[in-house]
Amino acid sequence: MDRQARPSAREFAAQGQVVAAMPDDAGLVSRPRRLRRTAALRRLVAQTRLSASDLVLPMFVKEGIDEPVPIASMPGVLQHTRDSLRKAASEAVANGVGGLMVFGIPAAKDARGSAADDPGGIVQLAVADLVAEVGDATVVMTDLCLDEYTDHGHCGVLVESATGALTVDNDATLQRYASIAVAQATAGAHVVAPSGMMDGQVGAIRTALDRAGFAEVAILAYAVKYASAFYGPFRDAAECAPRFGDRRSYQQDTANSDEALREVDLDIAQGADIVMVKPAMSYLDVVRRVRDRVDVPVAAYQVSGEYAMVEAAAANGWIDRESVIVESLTSIRRAGADIVLTYWAAEAALLLRDSR
Ligand code: PBG
Repeated sequence: MDRQARPSAREFAAQGQVVAAMPDDAGLVSRPRRLRRTAALRRLVAQTRLSASDLVLPMFVKEGIDEPVPIASMPGVLQHTRDSLRKAASEAVANGVGGLMVFGIPAAKDARGSAADDPGGIVQLAVADLVAEVGDATVVMTDLCLDEYTDHGHCGVLVESATGALTVDNDATLQRYASIAVAQATAGAHVVAPSGMMDGQVGAIRTALDRAGFAEVAILAYAVKYASAFYGPFRDAAECAPRFGDRRSYQQDTANSDEALREVDLDIAQGADIVMVKPAMSYLDVVRRVRDRVDVPVAAYQVSGEYAMVEAAAANGWIDRESVIVESLTSIRRAGADIVLTYWAAEAALLLRDSR
């Protein structure tokens, strides 16, 4: 669309394309259009504000690479080196983003995800870098899960059932999460964000943090995480697609929303400081229900597939990229999210700053 080529309203009228004004005899008292007439009026009555400080940037750091690696299905998103992560994080913080969420990709994976709680593991090192670099100016958060670290790609450790089927062992996984939480807190994370959807994960992590002297470290619980096909591109980015089966035995069924409230209640009872709904766009009804129910901050995660769809359509010239970014983020805020995780956080922060 070439905006330059379009006539102004005045030129358009001069072309004789305007219906003659009617006398104001329609008998309308209420005319909602009055408050939409000018940009200033619209701004004055806007109910939802979007600001850079609401946005959290998810970032990937990979062990054993010398240069950042682009992710094909997420144009503009990189697997960072420790060095490039630090630079990109400083930039995002300078743009005003509210926080960073760090995901690590280790060089070697095994069945129990040993790199996840290794004090010398990639996330621990990267978090220490970030806390030293920007820790006073932002909130450094860590994704707390096992799927990036296990060779089988599941979010927990596996157990063989009597029939020989492999399933994720909930309670054995909790012990791993507890240890990862302490490793991430030791590295300096301000907030840990358990995303594995194991029952009791928030409580297990809270207890472990408190015992290790990290009572002040907060928990952002991925309380409501659906088994979603919108995570596809992320699994390329974090190299964590499950090698067999899927995550439906621990992530929630798309069909349900009462269950989301139950999950949120359980997590808050176990000590969650912030609760998150994920993905965002297809679950805005759930965001609203959760917001109406709880009195802790609510986050929503605009996930990789949401990002990839917009980038792909924009690359084809089918949608106006920047407008769609701002519209999608505003919708998530309007649905009730206080905090939005988005791969556009750094860019959107700039856009919002420039539009003031
Ligand atoms: C699990 C995790 C996932 C995402 C965030 N944390 C993937 C999954 O459950 O398969 C998805 C994020 C996205 O799609 O942007 N550690």
